[in-house]
Amino acid sequence: TSSPSSVANVTAKSELKDFLHISDFDKATILKMLDRAAEIKALLKSGDRSFQPFKGKTMAMIFAKPSMRTRVSFETGFFLLGGHAIYLGPNDIQMGKREETRDVARVLSRYNDIIMARVFAHQDILDLAKYATVPVVNGLTDYNHPCQIMADVLTIIEHIGRIEGTKVVYVGDGNNIVHSWLLMAAVIPFHFVCACPKGFEPDKKTVEKAQQAGISKIEITNDPKEAVKGADVVYSDVWASMGQKEEADSRRKIFRGFQVDENLMKIAGPKAYFMHCLPAERGVEVTDGVVEAPNSIVFPQAENRMHAQNAVMLHLLGV
Ligand code: CP
Repeated sequence: TSSPSSVANVTAKSELKDFLHISDFDKATILKMLDRAAEIKALLKSGDRSFQPFKGKTMAMIFAKPSMRTRVSFETGFFLLGGHAIYLGPNDIQMGKREETRDVARVLSRYNDIIMARVFAHQDILDLAKYATVPVVNGLTDYNHPCQIMADVLTIIEHIGRIEGTKVVYVGDGNNIVHSWLLMAAVIPFHFVCACPKGFEPDKKTVEKAQQAGISKIEITNDPKEAVKGADVVYSDVWASMGQKEEADSRRKIFRGFQVDENLMKIAGPKAYFMHCLPAERGVEVTDGVVEAPNSIVFPQAENRMHAQNAVMLHLLGV
């Protein structure tokens, strides 16, 4: 395996086995992983495929829920750095149902060097990590999505030059993406605002955790127009999980004033970038025009999932 010296020297072996929540890590470790993500990205973009740190390693990917970006970015990223990823969909695995999570964790640890999992309940990823003897990466739970937020911050650094001191305004449901932003704000200083309808605020304990860390300005509001003023980033997500038709129909009425449209972006100001973790329902939480506008960075953001996750896995595997 050959590696560019700048890449090889960046990451120290992590003391934490798993990547479950951003706030488990300190600022220096997060920034180091993001630096490394940028280096690996540049290397892969140059066409250089000589850096093969995952050669001879395998990853088990558990998907209890559907995914496009998470599956393809993990599988492609692991492959490009020399490893082999194994997809386990709902028909391949009965984790927490017919087979206990602790058994799945111990069996997969005997075949694989690392496990990533997208599960419904957050407790499932905690149990998986508790019983697995290899690193476990959280690929989304009902509580948070740490890989997404690593990619988001990498994208902000690429476009604005920094995350510290920026104003990130999330507009929509106070969901797992908001929790991830709050957990990031507990470690790295920036101004985070969540503008959501009444009754759709993020988890209170997570808001308190971010506020008590005392390093970021945190605001939760029900007024998106006021919230976006002076934003560096306006961020949106679907109002209901894809495929949840009844929930989606009822939420469209409740969330009506929370669509990110051209008018909201105008209020935000000319420097504001638009971000969305995707998949997006164009014409619902965001207009087609906002997604297609020059200041929309949703596709670089999606691409960065792969590079950020590769950096996280390099860190956990100590390679
Ligand atoms: N953003 C995200 O996690 O996308 P997928 O659901 O397609 O994985």
